[in-house]
Amino acid sequence: MAFARLATIVALAFTTVTVNAGLVKRVTCSNGKTTANAVCCPLFDAVDFLQANLFDGSECGEEAHSALRISFHDAIGFSINGGKGGGADGSILVFNQTELGFHANGGIDDIVADQFPIFQTLNQQMNISAGDFLHLAGAVGTSNCPGAPRLQFMFGRPPPVAAAPDFTVPEPTDSVTDILARFADAGFSPAEAVALLSSHTIAAADVIDPTIPGTPFDSTVGTFDSQVFLEVLLKGTLFPGNGSQAGEVLSPIAGEMRLQSDFLISQDSRTACLWQSMINDQNRMMTQFKDAMAKLQTLGQSNLVDCSDVVPVPATFTGPITYPASFSQDDVQIACTEQAFPSLATVAGPAPTLAPVPGS
Ligand code: HEM
Ligand SMILES: *[C@@H]1O[C@H](CO)[C@@H](O)[C@H](O)[C@H]1NC(C)=O
Ligand SMILES: *[C@@H]1O[C@H](CO)[C@@H](O)[C@H](O)[C@H]1NC(C)=O
Ligand SMILES: *[C@@H]1O[C@H](CO)[C@@H](O)[C@H](O)[C@H]1NC(C)=O
Repeated sequence: MAFARLATIVALAFTTVTVNAGLVKRVTCSNGKTTANAVCCPLFDAVDFLQANLFDGSECGEEAHSALRISFHDAIGFSINGGKGGGADGSILVFNQTELGFHANGGIDDIVADQFPIFQTLNQQMNISAGDFLHLAGAVGTSNCPGAPRLQFMFGRPPPVAAAPDFTVPEPTDSVTDILARFADAGFSPAEAVALLSSHTIAAADVIDPTIPGTPFDSTVGTFDSQVFLEVLLKGTLFPGNGSQAGEVLSPIAGEMRLQSDFLISQDSRTACLWQSMINDQNRMMTQFKDAMAKLQTLGQSNLVDCSDVVPVPATFTGPITYPASFSQDDVQIACTEQAFPSLATVAGPAPTLAPVPGS
């Protein structure tokens, strides 16, 4: 009864409740947007504010990429066995003095500096917590990238209580065994770990080789396609910057960075077929990434309200993906022998040289 009365009052404050064909109650907010829950209404304005002030007007650029990365680094500080951090709680923002000191958080300082004042503004306006802010930003930034799934957004995280401990974020120098063990400790299977690595399709490195900031992991860094899963398998021939750096292995394309961890995961018998299965299977990649992100962005949290309606709908990517110019299946280091390798066309012209991501 108490809940029914509260629901009535909230609904009045937000104008109307309508019932759609599926008999799902929807609320029309005072700004005209509709959502499943009245408590989500203020978030539409928060999303507009993020798009204008963090993402340079809905771009899939450096800030969108790093908003996704920081949502991982924040959330993964968690263990299903207890004794680690609070999970997806925004501790990396609030306790930045501690967490930015961890080696694995190299390069995260820029996005913390970009996000912190925007978080403070929204926190003053609508009392949004650091965890809700950071994981909303991750979902909205990702939605700016064509081909991305529309990520879930759950609302209602309390403020973080402490920094996550060190050594929870995997490093590109780690072995596959150590990486899979860390993911398992946080509750993720090898398949979910590979699904989460779809994120590296909209990724670039600033600190692996500091002489070449913004060096992308694939040739389509502004599109959430499965290109990274293909390009990590191409025979490596060069280092894009100042020689070989820790966590880096030979890359196939000038201007492209290959992480040692991505390469080892693509070749390991525990993960090679999971990796290969993503190539040119946009639906598989989107679905598995969306599901694994839903788990990641709620680690350690409970009693959240589904506010996914506030997340913008991403543009679609229709594919198919292609070999970068000059490459073909002859260049693929196939590590999964149980499944046929997908047949893909090659872009015409000379081998590309990739440009760095602007603003890195
Ligand atoms: C095995 C696990 C992982 C390792 C070892 C790893 C490592 C790295 C490294 C070294 C960088 C480049 C940092 C720099 O030099 O600036 C990077 C970038 C990135 N990572 Fe990961 N990562 C992992 C998993 C993930 C996951 C699970 C996500 C998200 C779900 C993610 C999202 C990103 C994104 C979006 C970037 C690009 C950031 C930008 O362009 O500004 N990574 N990662
Ligand atoms: C780190 O967090 C503190 C508050 O805990 C804040 O005052 C500071 O601006 C943050 N640093 C950055 C780089 O945003
Ligand atoms: C802001 O949120 C926190 C919990 O997230 C709550 O304890 C506090 O009472 C709220 N403040 C206001 C003014 O609503
Ligand atoms: C290039 O790398 C070498 C060895 O890793 C290092 O000593 C040197 O300082 C680097 N050069 C620049 C410009 O960073």
